Amino acid sequence: MLIEVQGLSKRYRPRGPLVVEEISFAIDRGETLAIFGDSGSGKSTIGQILAGIYPATAGEMRLDGQTLSYPLRGHARRQIQILFQHPEVAFNPRLRLIDSMREPYRLFRLPYTRQGLCDYLERYGIYEEHLGRFPAELSGGELQRLALARAMLIEPSFLVLDEPTSMLDVISQAQIIHLLREIQKERQVGYLFISHDRALCERFCTSIRLLEGGTLREPM
Ligand SMILES: Nc1ncnc2c1ncn2[C@@H]1O[C@H](COP(=O)(O)OP(=O)(O)OP(=O)(O)O)[C@@H](O)[C@H]1O
Ligand SMILES: [Mg+2]
Repeated sequence: MLIEVQGLSKRYRPRGPLVVEEISFAIDRGETLAIFGDSGSGKSTIGQILAGIYPATAGEMRLDGQTLSYPLRGHARRQIQILFQHPEVAFNPRLRLIDSMREPYRLFRLPYTRQGLCDYLERYGIYEEHLGRFPAELSGGELQRLALARAMLIEPSFLVLDEPTSMLDVISQAQIIHLLREIQKERQVGYLFISHDRALCERFCTSIRLLEGGTLREPM
């Protein structure tokens, strides 16, 4: 199994409420699990814990059978990536996008050439002219495609997709969904797809769970 989550619980403050309580699920390679639920139900909490942004309060998470610990290091840090609802949070607003895109090359010691990067970005519909700009100078759809391109650069096996299309118009949404489908077909990446749009979950995902009252269940 690519991702296994067992008995995951989270409270943000020591004596605060449990936001999620003893949640368990598994996601295989090439599969997409959708978690949908109301605002504030804890969807992003689950995604962000899996992506190593916050520690869990209790529970166990495994990637390819290896227990994940907080913070993620080495292999796990590379294998698990996240896309956010607001793609602008993924980029430093003061850096030109070319410099943000160079970061993973440096961090993960990948061979970099400007031409190589431009060729790579073509399938994401991003071109050299975009790279000279700042994040605020791209549309939401362009920025999300670039965020996806950056996440895929290091060839992760698992992506957390935290409402990656909910801020986008229908065309940009369709482009992202199309790219995600193609990437999954080619690379057998596993996805956790977080959304409050049940219809979209049903179209896009292999299985679907409702998050309500801090626990997961099969939707009616
Ligand atoms: N960093 C944090 N510190 C304290 N409480 C938090 C933090 N992040 C989220 N919460 C609380 O945890 C609960 C779940 O929030 P979360 O963001 O996971 O919900 P969500 O399902 O993603 O909602 P939305 O659909 O609005 O994105 C909320 O009550 C929220 O206020
Ligand atoms: Mg959220």
